[in-house]
Amino acid sequence: MSTSDSLEKIAHEVATCTRCPLHSTRTNPVPGEGPSNAQIMFIGEGPGFHEDRQGRPFVGASGDFLTEMLNDIGLQREEVFIANVVKCRPPGNRDPEPAEIKACREYLDRQIALINPRAIVTLGRFSMARWFPDARISQIHGKAHTFDGRVVVPFFHPAAALHQPSLRQTVMDDFRKLLTLIQTAAENQPADSDDEPEDLQQLSLF
Ligand code: URA
Ligand code: SF4
Repeated sequence: MSTSDSLEKIAHEVATCTRCPLHSTRTNPVPGEGPSNAQIMFIGEGPGFHEDRQGRPFVGASGDFLTEMLNDIGLQREEVFIANVVKCRPPGNRDPEPAEIKACREYLDRQIALINPRAIVTLGRFSMARWFPDARISQIHGKAHTFDGRVVVPFFHPAAALHQPSLRQTVMDDFRKLLTLIQTAAENQPADSDDEPEDLQQLSLF
């Protein structure tokens, strides 16, 4: 990544990307959206029908549920960054192929590097697999892990709760723990290095 990288540059590259076959069936690319200094980043799977139509992440039923959960814990959608592991819609909402995820990975890597969020919440197994390749989501959801000073918390995908109402309470409980998990994990970090942006207490989210 060069020092002149930016979210706009990534979005522009995604818009003209032909690195994987998903480019040929997309209506619009969905690079992701949110503030470049977001403290929390949510990473889903890939655009669905509505996202492909609008070029924005999580704007369908899953998005409504995500927004509802965020609001429930006092966050606005606009203050978090929302992205996906693949930026173009898999036809018919099929699962993204490993080769597609691999081809798209650089964009997500660059977004994470630029935003440098305190915490990443993975939504569903495809984004979870990047940090927890062998894990089962039913066993690790809602638990915080730290990677290079950053908290990563796997959540079920919101669509799972919509398809399986018995999961709804679980997803809600995970969301309600989120801010505490992030704070606790940050407090348990070893004493700070120079690249730490600022004191946690000064961050508006906490
Ligand atoms: N599901 C996802 O994983 N991502 C979206 O952007 C929308 C639905
Ligand atoms: Fe490029 Fe990613 Fe879209 Fe594939 S999914 S065409 S790698 S932007």
